[in-house]
Order: sequence, then structure tokens, then C-alpha cells
Amino acid sequence: MNDLLELMVNRRSVRKYSSEPVTEDQIKDIVTAALLSPSGHSKYPCEFIVVRDRRMLDQMTHCRVGVAKMLNNASCAIVVIADRDKSDTVIEDSAIAMMNMHLMATSLGLGSCWIQLRLRTSEDWKDSEIFIRELLNIPENYLCQAILSIGNLERMPKPHDINSLDYRKIHDEKF
Ligand SMILES: Cc1cc2nc3c(=O)[nH]c(=O)nc-3n(C[C@H](O)[C@H](O)[C@H](O)COP(=O)(O)O)c2cc1C
Repeated sequence: MNDLLELMVNRRSVRKYSSEPVTEDQIKDIVTAALLSPSGHSKYPCEFIVVRDRRMLDQMTHCRVGVAKMLNNASCAIVVIADRDKSDTVIEDSAIAMMNMHLMATSLGLGSCWIQLRLRTSEDWKDSEIFIRELLNIPENYLCQAILSIGNLERMPKPHDINSLDYRKIHDEKF
């Protein structure tokens, strides 16, 4: 199987991590993958906040109801933010950067998971974006679309089954 396809088969959303810390070299590779992402009109509006502080990670778990608890045992998290004043494709650019980081984490043998902020609500019923913006001091003109939680694997996740993919979703020439 092609190397990239194999990586994609093995990529899973991992929400349980061991206590072993992610190294600075690994974080460097992940943010490098983010910075290599394509960008609409080459505007490159995305910036990245790497959070390693345990107390801050614990506070960030409250950005969503229930589904951000993995930050409690993550070694670090990377928040993708994007300057709306620079580009009109901040949502697309942020999503691509998230995916590049998610795949790079997989290729480094780490577990990671997307935590959605845009259009979501925090435990104290704030907009999740606003919750994170206030916590991390992010200026208002930045979209805060998502967080990638990252940690070492506690156990190998089950890969996807390439034979169960629904190729009926692929249309030939016309719908
Ligand atoms: C846009 C988007 C938002 C997501 N938000 C969350 C989230 O807030 N919390 C979470 O635990 N997983 C989140 N996920 C992960 C999905 O639940 C996961 O990708 C899906 O269940 C498929 O599993 P897999 O990633 O292991 O293939 C999100 C994924 C995407 C693409």
C-alpha cells in the first residue's frame, strides 16, 4: 500500500494518552506540518498556540460539554487560530492545518484528536471560541476553529478497514 494511504488508514482520533511527554522535536515536526499547509490566495492567516501547561490544559477541558476531556491527559494541545482580517478562507485554512498536524502526529506514532470550537458551546454556556479566546488572550479578529490534543499512545488504535469504505459515494462524471 502507498505510504500516505497507509498513514491515513492508521489515523484515528485518540482520546487516551500515556503519561510520557511529547518531545519538543515532535512538537516542532507537528507545527512544521501546520505551516506547510496550503492557503487560499497564499494569505497564510493561521497561527498556532502550543499549550503544555498542565493547569491550562485542565482549564481548557471546559471549552466543550463532555467532548474535550482528553485534554486532562494530553501532553500538549495546539490551538489553530486564523486572522480574519488577512483572508476570507480562514475556515478552510484552519481545517487543512488541523489535518496536516493530525496526520503528522500519527506519523510520529502519537495519538491526537480534533476538538471543535467553532459553532460549539462551553460547559458554562459560552461560545466555545469565546471561552478559548478569553482563556488564551486571543484577539477578537482571530477565528478559533479547533484544538488538536496530543499525547503518547496508551494502546495502538484500531486502523480503519479499507475494505469497508463506501465507494458508492464516488460518482462518475455526473451525480
Ligand atoms: C470537524 C471535526 C470536529 C470534531 N470534533 C470533535 C470533538 O470536539 N471532540 C472529539 O472527541 N472528537 C471530535 N472529532 C473527531 C471525530 O469524532 C472523529 O474524527 C470521528 O469519530 C471518526 O473517527 P476517526 O477520526 O478515528 O476516524 C472531530 C472531527 C472533525 C473532523
